[in-house]
Amino acid sequence: MSSSHRESSQRSSLPPLFRPFPLRDVTFPNRIVVTPMCQYCADDGHAADWHLAHHGRFSLAGVGGALVEATAVTREGRITHGCLGIYRDSHVERLSQITGFYHAHGIPIGIQLAHAGRKASAALPFEGAAPLTQHDPSSAWELIAPSAIPMTEGWPTPRAMTVGEIHRTINAFVTAAGRAIRAGFDFIEIHGAHGYLVNSFFSPISNQRDDEWGGSPMENRLRFPVRVAEALRSAIPASMPLLYRTSSVDGIEGGIEIEDTVILARALKSAGVDLVDCSSGGIIGPSGRALAKPAPGYLVPYAEEVRRAAEIPTMAVGLITEAKQANEIIAAGRADLVAMGRQMMDESNFAYHAAKKLSHPDPCSVLPDSYEFWLRRR
Ligand SMILES: Cc1cc2nc3c(=O)[nH]c(=O)nc-3n(C[C@H](O)[C@H](O)[C@H](O)COP(=O)(O)O)c2cc1C
Repeated sequence: MSSSHRESSQRSSLPPLFRPFPLRDVTFPNRIVVTPMCQYCADDGHAADWHLAHHGRFSLAGVGGALVEATAVTREGRITHGCLGIYRDSHVERLSQITGFYHAHGIPIGIQLAHAGRKASAALPFEGAAPLTQHDPSSAWELIAPSAIPMTEGWPTPRAMTVGEIHRTINAFVTAAGRAIRAGFDFIEIHGAHGYLVNSFFSPISNQRDDEWGGSPMENRLRFPVRVAEALRSAIPASMPLLYRTSSVDGIEGGIEIEDTVILARALKSAGVDLVDCSSGGIIGPSGRALAKPAPGYLVPYAEEVRRAAEIPTMAVGLITEAKQANEIIAAGRADLVAMGRQMMDESNFAYHAAKKLSHPDPCSVLPDSYEFWLRRR
């Protein structure tokens, strides 16, 4: 048997969750991705020792890929004082330690580039997540957004961005991507979800501008997300995948519906986005608010629909916690990757456990060599 035949027959004996997934020049060794999760302990945007430990854990765990949390492209684009940033060159060094951990084990690592928009300047979740104007006014900063509409009652009214600020913010994404490349990231995700700046340009709830950057028709509200994607695509290497996280539905009357997200996904695909990561909610409160109570796999139908209707690879997320469930999502072609958050906190060795449960022919092989060696001998 030729080596390429041997490799392909070995691959087809793998459970679908463990089949590699290529995107541009990056290959995810399996379909399990650590979703971005803010850790709220950065120091003026710099990653803390905690971040190294948090990602160190996952880098040893046989995952197929991982994403570093929402990382602000400008200082005022942080959600809280504890959020990661990539608005200074000094942020690069620590981030490159994180990418080094994953690279040591052949795992692609991405970064989620973000701007919090009208949801910025908030207290930490553990301190109540109130606007800093209430929690600690002396440490609050000015919010910017497409329109001067507060996120919800009690939140400060953001200042509507000037066209010059819109262009400067797009440039901030590009500068941030340059730093991300220097830090060794393999792919970039645009945070277009959860009511933050990019999402707030797309949603009619938060974007009621009367210029070409908003309001009606929908093409105007697509403009900012698409321009960010185009700018990043032309700034990063052609070999590098570009992902986009959507809030696939706002979950409130008059907000984004899945049909709108399909239109957005098509436009993003033309702009050079390679995969859409389908989350939801957050336009008027914490992500997920005003949606049905989350049930296992509750967001998978969005990943499935975007994949089918926009013909673009997708990542499913949201209460994916079981090996069988994750494997079936991939096997049925409902998504190309599955992102996992809270289950990963609970069970960082999920991939290894899933390999055993799904009768992977060699479950130990998903782990790094030195763990593999000992676990085989148990
Ligand atoms: C602690 C925590 C922090 C999060 N931070 C981010 C973030 O930085 N960016 C983002 O897009 N989503 C963030 N999320 C949402 C997750 O990426 C994910 O979509 C959500 O937790 C649902 O997946 P799960 O059920 O597997 O946890 C966060 C979730 C948690 C629990």
